[in-house]
Amino acid sequence: MVDDDTELEARLEEQETFDPSEEFVAQANVTDEGIYEEFEENWPECWDRAGKLLDWDTRYDEILDDSNPPFYEWFADGTLNAAYNCVDRHVENGDKNRVAIKWEGELGDTRTYTYQDLYREVNEFAAALRDLGVEEDDVVTLYMPMVPELPIAMLACARIGAPHSVVFAGFSAEALGTRMRSADSEYLVTCDGYYRRGDALDHLAKANEGLESLDHDVETVVVDRLGDAGHGHGLTENQHDYAELVAEQSGNRVDPVERGAEDMLFLMYTSGTTGQPKGVKHTTGGYLAYAAWTTHAVLDVKPRDTYWCAADIGWITGHSYIVYGPLALGTTTLMYEGTPDYPERDRLWELVEKYSVDIFYTAPTAIRAFMKWGSKFPERRDLSSLRLLGTVGEPINPRAWKWYYRHIGEEECPIVDTWWQTETGGMMITTLPGVGTMKPGSAGPPLPGIDATVVDTKGEPVEAGRAGYLTVDEPWPGMLRTLYNNDERFIDEYWREYSDVDSDDPDDWVYFPEDGAKIDEDGYITILGRVDDVLNVSGHRLGTMEIESAIVGVEGVAEAAVVGGEHDVKGEAVYAYVILEDGYDDDEEMRERIVAGVEDAIGPIARPEQVIFTPELPKTRSGKIMRRLLEEIANGEEELGDTTTLRNPDVVEEIQRKAQR
Ligand code: WTA
Repeated sequence: MVDDDTELEARLEEQETFDPSEEFVAQANVTDEGIYEEFEENWPECWDRAGKLLDWDTRYDEILDDSNPPFYEWFADGTLNAAYNCVDRHVENGDKNRVAIKWEGELGDTRTYTYQDLYREVNEFAAALRDLGVEEDDVVTLYMPMVPELPIAMLACARIGAPHSVVFAGFSAEALGTRMRSADSEYLVTCDGYYRRGDALDHLAKANEGLESLDHDVETVVVDRLGDAGHGHGLTENQHDYAELVAEQSGNRVDPVERGAEDMLFLMYTSGTTGQPKGVKHTTGGYLAYAAWTTHAVLDVKPRDTYWCAADIGWITGHSYIVYGPLALGTTTLMYEGTPDYPERDRLWELVEKYSVDIFYTAPTAIRAFMKWGSKFPERRDLSSLRLLGTVGEPINPRAWKWYYRHIGEEECPIVDTWWQTETGGMMITTLPGVGTMKPGSAGPPLPGIDATVVDTKGEPVEAGRAGYLTVDEPWPGMLRTLYNNDERFIDEYWREYSDVDSDDPDDWVYFPEDGAKIDEDGYITILGRVDDVLNVSGHRLGTMEIESAIVGVEGVAEAAVVGGEHDVKGEAVYAYVILEDGYDDDEEMRERIVAGVEDAIGPIARPEQVIFTPELPKTRSGKIMRRLLEEIANGEEELGDTTTLRNPDVVEEIQRKAQR
């Protein structure tokens, strides 16, 4: 047994390419290699394939309007409703008893919603939102953990044409306030609390604190998740109990509002280079068509599947691949409230076994944690129902890929390593599981119809194997349309670098995702990571500027620089270099205040791994902080790169000494 194992391990280690099994290919949604050429030759009409996955109130004639780049419009003369597409049409098509959402709480409590159940509750809550005063185009903020009421609230908003803005429940009160202010949002749906590793967290206290920071009134709906285990907050005059509202609307129906394809479906805030998060705007037609298409083509989802994306709906992955994509296709989507290691480290595999999950999609950071915990946890469970695995959010190293392939997929499931962003709306670079050879460590070729390349600083394609910058030359239906109320920043952030911004010719416009990458002879793209000041901690995007301004806000801090250091589970971790004002001590209390400052401003996900007090920061003669050096120090490198351009080279050794403590 042991010998077999080592032999297998050695063989896997050497193997550089993997092909899907015949069995997988025989049943896959997309199997024709010619699809790449077909899309290229018929571009942009090829995107009708995505549009056709939806039911339209008014069928579109024009696929793409590129007359005003980079403000591209897709299916613009079509009208539709996203909630109708995710709920009603499945009920009308005779699938009302199929399960839409299966939910499991951390403590093992379960709930099941058929499409009929979903139809009923989405209608009732949509009616309740209307009665509260929500009108078409009002932004409704959803600050909720992983409870079924979150997708229900999203769909209820979509039904009445009110864009939602979901704020990740792990974000702080301050982060909630910033996002609500930025979106002028006068409605909030939140929750009393939820369970994390057995504890009932007080979420409403955070929501209330965020509300206090606003100077406009907000109508709030509160879901009672904890019941008696709740924290005993009374509801104020502007706060309503979710269950009561829904009960009052029992049996009521709201006609789905006919939305233009280009009308906003939702806003999603994400981190950028400056301290201010960006409100990424997604639209109804293009986004939904793209989410549905990629769920079909890449995740190979079929209506009969039990499909599980183990992300949080508070991030784009959950929007596109827990809610909109899977429900548009009429499948069963699984939601889990808790963490992978509670009560045991086999919790996710227990759920795969219990629900006979067919498709499983997660982040490399989780896979690295599973690896660390050991294969005995998945081995305890029957994972034979799995057909396809996926990863998203950060680069996956070949070792983690192979562990996932062997211990979770039992060498039978293809893996799709999907590169995309909040801004792209859906997957952009990955193999098609029924078509392409997989190369661990490389996401794969751009999807059909996606014109992504790797270029140098001048925009010229780089040679195979050389590092460069990822760019996308043609628009695609799922792309962001702009940054909320900020067209200028939209152009600056994503287009200016490689476009002729004065041109009206779409050929002069190139999208820049701000990722480094390389490409091989077969056109497979390996993502190297962000090239802006954004960290990727456990697959979550965090702006260094946001963290720095939180730290500088702590009393006694004069200056701060935040960089990412390598971390074997999180991928990257936050390292904070801090200069104190005179008269403050670099003691444990100060450290704790800094950590608390970051948690208050952003949330525990941004918590510094290490706070390093230093009398100075390494600066170039022009006064720029040399971040590369701080990264090298965070990574414990002894031999540092060139320091000759520093104004204060002497400080380096001292920082190194402090970092080692
Ligand atoms: C990174 C998450 C390597 C990348 C959907 C991107 C990846 C950022 C991958 C977007 C992948 C995402 N391989 N890196 N498969 N997928 N990234 O907006 O740096 O939270 O720009 O969207 O994550 O993060 P976001």
